[in-house]
Amino acid sequence: MREHAVAVVAGDGIGLEVVPAARQVLDRVAEIHGGFRLTYREFPWSCRYYLEHGAMMPEDGLETLRPFDAIFLGAVGFPGVPDHVSLWGLLLPIRREFRQYVNLRPIKLLRGIASPLRDRGPEEIDFLCVRENNEGEYSNMGGRLYRGTPQELAVQNTVFTRFGVERILHYAFRLARERGRIKRVTAATKSNGINYTMPFWDEVFEEVATQYPDVEHDRFHVDALAARFVTDPAHFGVVVASNLFGDILTDLGAAIAGSIGVAPSANLNPEGTYPSMFEPVHGSAPDIAGRGVANPIAQVWSGAMMLDHLGYPEAHGLIVGAIERALLDGIRTRDLGGAAGTVEMTQAILDRLEG
Ligand code: NAD
Ligand code: IPM
Ligand code: MN
Repeated sequence: MREHAVAVVAGDGIGLEVVPAARQVLDRVAEIHGGFRLTYREFPWSCRYYLEHGAMMPEDGLETLRPFDAIFLGAVGFPGVPDHVSLWGLLLPIRREFRQYVNLRPIKLLRGIASPLRDRGPEEIDFLCVRENNEGEYSNMGGRLYRGTPQELAVQNTVFTRFGVERILHYAFRLARERGRIKRVTAATKSNGINYTMPFWDEVFEEVATQYPDVEHDRFHVDALAARFVTDPAHFGVVVASNLFGDILTDLGAAIAGSIGVAPSANLNPEGTYPSMFEPVHGSAPDIAGRGVANPIAQVWSGAMMLDHLGYPEAHGLIVGAIERALLDGIRTRDLGGAAGTVEMTQAILDRLEG
């Protein structure tokens, strides 16, 4: 029996509701599987924690997380603490310090969900988005001067390194080769308007592509690419994008796959030098927090991605299968047009795990 130590940061808002739900599913799957066990340590780091302690996590927070096999996170950010304070105090330093440079976000229409795209089914909406997760537009470099005066200025630098761009592109091509439904990598660019970083990204993309002659590649300006998500989702195998473009595209991807309430994500350090982190694409949803109506599927599926990462692809398959069976049986939360609450949806998944 293998044991894996998981650091749990439920965070804020609906994170507090969907993380316990997902843990129930993970524990049941571990029992059924029989080959592994998860041991959890919970950390209360959040906006509540900030209001009490003046920081989102203790000074040695990252050091505390480092020895874990994985981090399972809900969502960070809540009214009362400015978003840039909460996110740069917890989520973004974890992604960065632990070199989780891949943000892998499947865009997959599950059976039992109707896409808002008319006449599109699960065969046509099934691709992977690889978001660069450590640099780009999220550089934490810049400044503000002359606050509150007519001369006020604000600058945010965008940083692309050859090392950072090459490694994410190689990851995307390898993924397309190994797991893409279609062996094609599509890159998001904006080289018509952003005249230093994006032409650089495009050049490196073409260079890297020559090393994968068996994988097709193409490139679209991100605005046109967003439209293509809607008009021709079946075109995509793997979409690779910079940090901000990937952020925006994956909320759109979640929408075409039915709801942000079902979209999972993995922040990966592929080398395994540091722990990887698993969390939904969505945030803390303050508008519905505390009401028991949040869709737990994104968190549950993120947990399944964690099990896949830890070496149990069959456990991942079991969970996704149970989610689909629950949906096919008509059990859906409000974001999917149903009436089930978080607890009922979770129970429906648990009931269908045995196959
Ligand atoms: P959000 O994803 O929290 O919510 C957007 C909309 O989707 C809301 O209407 C919400 O009710 C709905 N929604 C989200 N998850 C849902 C679920 N599981 N079930 C049903 N409906 C769901 O995005 P936002 O409103 O822009 O952000 C809220 C807060 O969360 C902000 O503080 C933001 O910075 C933070 N945030 C954190 C993360 C993260 O921790 N990874 C991600 C995104 C946003
Ligand atoms: C996400 C979120 C975060 C991001 C925010 C909360 C900083 O939107 O995980 O998609 O932009 O990466
Ligand atoms: Mn986002």
